[in-house]
Amino acid sequence: MRIDILTLFPEMFRGPFDESIMKRAVEAGLIEINVYNIRDYTNDRHHTVDDYPYGGGHGMVMKPEPLFEATEAVVALGERRGPIVLLTPQGRTLDQTMAGELAKEQRLVLICGHYEGVDERVREHLITQEISIGDYVLSGGELPAMVVVDAVVRLIPGVLGSADSLVEESHTEGLLEYPQYTRPAEFRGWPVPGILLSGNHQEVKRWRRQQSVLRTAQRRSDLLAKADLTDEERRLAITASAEAQPDEEDT
Ligand code: ADE
Repeated sequence: MRIDILTLFPEMFRGPFDESIMKRAVEAGLIEINVYNIRDYTNDRHHTVDDYPYGGGHGMVMKPEPLFEATEAVVALGERRGPIVLLTPQGRTLDQTMAGELAKEQRLVLICGHYEGVDERVREHLITQEISIGDYVLSGGELPAMVVVDAVVRLIPGVLGSADSLVEESHTEGLLEYPQYTRPAEFRGWPVPGILLSGNHQEVKRWRRQQSVLRTAQRRSDLLAKADLTDEERRLAITASAEAQPDEEDT
């Protein structure tokens, strides 16, 4: 996958992509990441990238010309086509399903918004989708772009060492992950659940699944609607979420 990132702060991308999984994915040729400075695509003497909003109001707005020129130039650098994404709190919220869809693309162009926003013509005529990483406002789209890249790249086949680590992790089946333990079997008097030491793989699997359902019900009951549960698991989930979130009268 070729990932092109357009930003006013390319330096911010030093570091996160030079470590660990991302670094290995680049070295293995599974991904290529390029970062471009939007300011390099301005034509005026002052390299202006923002301007006052028409109609007044506070804050500055990113001008359309540098964004169109930068994006069009960068898109032309690669043969393959893919989504052109604007990172903004107004976008669809990133989730594991969306990350999985994006991981199938051959190409990804990510535009980091800044200031009070971008000229609306960028939304209407340049980008193909808008992504938010959550209902809070950050100072720019750079951290969100890094989050998107991380969530997407680790789903590209071959990037993670063991396929199993993807299959059983949080959100993959619409549930949170079960509790994990490692040695020692007892730490400061706190023992590891006995079932995990039993060697009975069938029972361990059952326990883990049950823990995933319980944990999701207790912490994120909003996820249950889309989760694929058996009738028994759904009954367990309903009881657990009712206990975790007693209604007003009970509190
Ligand atoms: N830019 C600022 N806040 C953001 C958010 N929550 N998601 C995506 N882009 C953003």
